[in-house]
Amino acid sequence: MAASPSELTEQRLDPESIAAVDASDLLADVAGLPEHVRDAKWKVESAQLTPWDSPGGMIVAGMGGSGIGGLLARAMLGDHASRPILAARTYGLPAWTTPDVTVLCASYSGNTEETLACYEAAGALGARRVVVTSGGRLAELARADGVPVIPVAGGFQPRAAVAYMTVAALEVAGLCGAGPRMGSELDVAADHLEQLVVEWGAEGAEDSQSKTLARALCDSVPVIVGSGVTQPIAYRWKTQLNENAKIPAFAHELPEMDHNEIVGWQNASSLARFAAVFFDDADTHPRVQERIALTRELISEQATGTFVVASRGVTAVERVLSLVLLGDLVSLYVAVLRGVDPTPVDVIEELKGRLD
Ligand code: PA5
Repeated sequence: MAASPSELTEQRLDPESIAAVDASDLLADVAGLPEHVRDAKWKVESAQLTPWDSPGGMIVAGMGGSGIGGLLARAMLGDHASRPILAARTYGLPAWTTPDVTVLCASYSGNTEETLACYEAAGALGARRVVVTSGGRLAELARADGVPVIPVAGGFQPRAAVAYMTVAALEVAGLCGAGPRMGSELDVAADHLEQLVVEWGAEGAEDSQSKTLARALCDSVPVIVGSGVTQPIAYRWKTQLNENAKIPAFAHELPEMDHNEIVGWQNASSLARFAAVFFDDADTHPRVQERIALTRELISEQATGTFVVASRGVTAVERVLSLVLLGDLVSLYVAVLRGVDPTPVDVIEELKGRLD
């Protein structure tokens, strides 16, 4: 019989209770985020890339847990990006792609067909290519073609390698002239993340922000709302809730949400239990902050709960990574509360297998 909402929220989230459900210890990889940031910098350095100039900017080609790194890197660069930084998340590059664009092909496994198609398309175009991967067909092709490879260690779930993918995208953006180099910001952010792991991790208080939020979301369909810098983080939370907690979750952005989705909330509670999480950040537009308050008020009767979560830290790199860490922990805790092993994503594997 399924656990009742109160049974779910009463369950403890201490290291032992988590280990009882988290059979493959995904928690260690999530809590390893600070170390991954530092190691990712070394991995980029080990590829010995010398700076080059890409007047057309950068495209990050990658799917799911690998593609998100490009979106997060672009958020971290914000107004400091001096050239376009775009994502390609399908079987090819945008029609306007020219040879003066750098194409970073990001695939943890190295076997994702959409990313392989982008790799081939970039080669046919004569665009400069860089690969970030742990191996697979992508690494084989890159070695054969003399394309530089930023290595990522094996043994992770692709989504747990988020720091590697993000740092690779950030560093390649700096190398090709699409933005400033952010090495020292990454060092500061890694130290900051270590403090947050203590506060929000398994050893943290039972009423920490991460555990409280997980209890609030574990029996609802979460809708995560970002804006500007936090928009890709809302998408990361949605995908982590999908893959770790195995629940539906959705992401939207303000101010756009106030022009459509807010109407749909009028009948939300007659369909399902929905909760809303809004992100606040130092760079959030003041009018968007007003919209967060008003939108919460207008949907609150239809929601099981509405929450505002503020990013932590000073620089954009710190702030983005703080929310990534919080979402990764919240999604893992929701999995534990629901008694679901957060690691396996069998249906993704099944679908990839059936396409072969
Ligand atoms: O989280 C996951 O496992 C997926 O979103 C994968 O990242 C996605 O399917 C792409 O695979 P890869 O990251 O190996 O390119």
